[in-house]
Amino acid sequence: MERNLALEFVRITEAAALASAKWMGRGDEKAADQAAVDAMRKAFDSVAIDGTVVIGEGERDEAPMLYIGEKVGRRSEGAPAIDIALDPLEGTTICANGGVGSISVIAVAEHGNFLHAPDTYMDKIACGPEAKGQIDIDLSPTENIKRVSAALRKPVGDVTVVILDRPRHADLIAEVRRTGARIQLIGDGDVSAAVAAAWPESGIDLLMGIGGAPEGVISAAAMQCLGGDFQGRLKFRNEEEKARAKKMGITDLNKKYTISELAQGSVMFVATGVTDGPFLKGVKTLPGRMAKTYSVVMRSKTGTIRNVEAHHNLSVKPMNF
Ligand code: FBP
Repeated sequence: MERNLALEFVRITEAAALASAKWMGRGDEKAADQAAVDAMRKAFDSVAIDGTVVIGEGERDEAPMLYIGEKVGRRSEGAPAIDIALDPLEGTTICANGGVGSISVIAVAEHGNFLHAPDTYMDKIACGPEAKGQIDIDLSPTENIKRVSAALRKPVGDVTVVILDRPRHADLIAEVRRTGARIQLIGDGDVSAAVAAAWPESGIDLLMGIGGAPEGVISAAAMQCLGGDFQGRLKFRNEEEKARAKKMGITDLNKKYTISELAQGSVMFVATGVTDGPFLKGVKTLPGRMAKTYSVVMRSKTGTIRNVEAHHNLSVKPMNF
């Protein structure tokens, strides 16, 4: 995949972050999400790709834009055919409440290299490069924590696990506490949390628990770039979700997905912070209609992690921020 595209994709997540950040802390999740979707959709039009959204805002009938299957990009001659997993605003509630860790994110792979995950839940486990190969979603949380503790050469009591604060995680939280490991409970945003598990100096060692399946694919793409590890298993809420998954070609509903079965080949991950988070600062408004954004661009092929800080003069941008 062409590396020059990286900067083009940053422009797209920057646009979505700038647009949604205008709604930061205003308590209106829908407006924040819509602003991100509109800006991202518009920004795609200027990029010379033949893109297909494989993880998006939902299925065509429920998502007016950036729906699964939607074609994006300026499909000029020779434009590369790529699959796109995106979330214009990951952590809508976080943004609406002015909380920690909302991002705008795009992951890109060559055609056919992302799992077409249905919009259901996924049980997930993620860790950084040092513990790669040690985690296994089929093992107990206790065993996984012990293995990560050994791989990181630090006592269990120094291992920090990030978990979504949900009633469904009561048993998981109790077990992790029994091991003596530390827990960071988060209200939302398990893509940021997965990235944090592989991000140097984030203080997070492990992500565990059930979150969105589409977010699982995006997280796996990030972990491929960071050299971390990720496994997932779909968790269905009802028969309708199972039927939808089967329609999308999933035959084994109980399958354990390895990182490479979720995202493989040459993968790119691009994110811009909307609000301050564990690995990216959020959008900052500066005097005189100026703003600053903080983004990261990562490629699995080279393992390069590039931080991009951009100053934007909003009064001369073609988009109306
Ligand atoms: P949205 O950005 O779509 O609101 O998702 C936020 C999120 O916290 C994800 O990071 C996570 O995977 C999922 O929701 C968890 O779902 P639920 O809120 O139903 O537990």
